[in-house]
Amino acid sequence: MTAFVAGNLRSKSKSLHKGKMPDLWQDAMDHAVTVARKAGEMVRDALQNDLKIMCKSSNVDLVTKTDQNVERLIITSVKEKFPTHSFIGEESVAAGEPCVLTDNPTWIIDPVDGTTNFVHGYPFVAICIGFAVKKTLEFGVVYSCIDDKMYTARKGQGAFCNGQPLQVSDQKEINQSIIATEFGSNRDPDVVDKIFSSMRKILCLPVHGMRGAGSAALNMCLVASGCVEAYYEIGIHCWDIAAAAVIVSEAGGVLMDVEGGPMDLMSRRVVAANNKTIAERIITEIEAFSAVRDDAPVDPLK
Ligand code: IPD
Ligand code: CA
Repeated sequence: MTAFVAGNLRSKSKSLHKGKMPDLWQDAMDHAVTVARKAGEMVRDALQNDLKIMCKSSNVDLVTKTDQNVERLIITSVKEKFPTHSFIGEESVAAGEPCVLTDNPTWIIDPVDGTTNFVHGYPFVAICIGFAVKKTLEFGVVYSCIDDKMYTARKGQGAFCNGQPLQVSDQKEINQSIIATEFGSNRDPDVVDKIFSSMRKILCLPVHGMRGAGSAALNMCLVASGCVEAYYEIGIHCWDIAAAAVIVSEAGGVLMDVEGGPMDLMSRRVVAANNKTIAERIITEIEAFSAVRDDAPVDPLK
């Protein structure tokens, strides 16, 4: 994936819109917002009841019936309206569906980002719907459903929260910045050592503080909102970041790989920052490691 520096994207597509090109995907984006709201209601209702908690890749990688039901709700309603479109959904992939991004219009869905928060009632939970055509992200919808914040961005048209425009911070000094990251769900001691080592180095730059909302998508929306300068993580999945990537980019931010260069949506690594200066400064401190790509071929013997 390229095309993740917002400034370039924005100026190119503004000139396209001057010529009154029909906006092919606005209808799809409106549908994404509507279904994300319905999904949010479902998540809020579920918080009032007992949650059935299950584990996926490890006993700290959690999933609930609500994650599965919300994903079903979103995919069923999108399929009715856009029957030829493709899907990459966190819970569908967990159930064995392929995780491959083709040129076909593709909805990239995380039904509940922040499942651990959800299970504990920690109030940062988001429904994420990203949409890509020809492998380029066209729009992103992240609904922070506990505090009712609807983050939206359409390529070339800016980023918004509840209709108010978003703009990243203009801070260029790392030692005046807040950096967000997460521990993820890998408890391999070597990986945990690298995570702590990166955090220690960044903290001691020094930065004003380090934070983590417990949701990759909401960390990225905080970057887009200008209250956090950068977020980085290794181990996230494409559904955690696809929608929020458009929001960061359209708020004027940048998306990079943890070793520099453009973000690769399937690589499970991301740096989302207000600008390249801050991104590159933290990249020099991050101890990079690889995670199995989201689009890696599935071993039939496993
Ligand atoms: C997780 C959250 C978490 C991040 C993990 C993600 P989930 O998504 O975004 O903040 O650290 O890497 O997998 O499991 O809550 O959908
Ligand atoms: Ca997620």
